[in-house]
Amino acid sequence: MSIALCYYDLGSYEDAENSYREAIKSNPKPMHINTEITHVDSMKIGIAGGTGGMGEGFALRWCQKHDVIVGSRDAQKAREAAENYMRTANQTYGNITGSISGNDNISFAKDIDVLILSIPYEFIDDTCGKLTGKLRDDCIVVSPIVPMARTEAGFVYIPLEEEDKEQAAEMVADKLPPRSRVVSAFHTISESKLKNLQQSLDADTFICGDDQNVIAKLTGLINEIAGLRPVYLGPLALAYQAEILTPMCLNAAKRNKMKNPGVKLV
Ligand SMILES: NC(=O)c1ccc[n+]([C@@H]2O[C@H](COP(=O)([O-])OP(=O)(O)OC[C@H]3O[C@@H](n4cnc5c(N)ncnc54)[C@H](OP(=O)(O)O)[C@@H]3O)[C@@H](O)[C@H]2O)c1
Repeated sequence: MSIALCYYDLGSYEDAENSYREAIKSNPKPMHINTEITHVDSMKIGIAGGTGGMGEGFALRWCQKHDVIVGSRDAQKAREAAENYMRTANQTYGNITGSISGNDNISFAKDIDVLILSIPYEFIDDTCGKLTGKLRDDCIVVSPIVPMARTEAGFVYIPLEEEDKEQAAEMVADKLPPRSRVVSAFHTISESKLKNLQQSLDADTFICGDDQNVIAKLTGLINEIAGLRPVYLGPLALAYQAEILTPMCLNAAKRNKMKNPGVKLV
């Protein structure tokens, strides 16, 4: 016990306590989030980078009820992907009331209610820069983006490795204000499970965001995905806690020969 106290910096601990007390004073009530919302009206959902694995999964899961627009840097590539996804959707669901179409990442911006940024971390700056000022004011922006790299030790979380790198959701919020519209989720959902419509996900996904109405809409969309439970983690500033779980899951999977493990709070 006394050895531990040798390393105990009383000053900084007190500072931390004081700032915590101040933070609680200025925000006394934690936001109440109802994660059981199951109904959202039909929406137009644009997926930037929708030609990738996650994009395919999102499109297939939401097209039953919503109009999904697959985005790409190349409109023709997006249209071809959309046709393929639509074929899979028709084979699986039969009749759907929603749709899947394709366009470039920027042209659909003014029409959509929700933007899913399904692009790698490295391209946030460029893609969001092109979308700046093009989205409707009430368009929700969802980041499933994981800043991750592979080293000799295993998968690592980039902002912990490189001092000048930010968490993904913060970068998105800086680039596509207002911050209140940005939410993050889906970090620990593997694309192969998301794309497989026969599979119920049997997993949780952590949501971070600052606006109750925005979180409610995302919660509704998550609850439409079979077996996926939304769990509210806190404001967008905490999104790194969800983002960092992905390299952790991948390391565990690799070392223990597990296939696409997810995360579930029990
Ligand atoms: N894969 C997973 O299991 C998984 C799980 C959880 C979270 N995530 C996160 O979800 C996001 C999407 O994952 P993913 O595996 O679908 O990604 P991905 O396949 O690597 O990339 C998605 C799309 O990004 C676009 N893209 C590539 N280079 C680009 C550039 N320079 N500028 C703009 N767009 C570019 C490509 O679309 P076009 O060539 O058509 O433009 C590509 O199809 C990532 O941020 C990832 O960290 C992935």
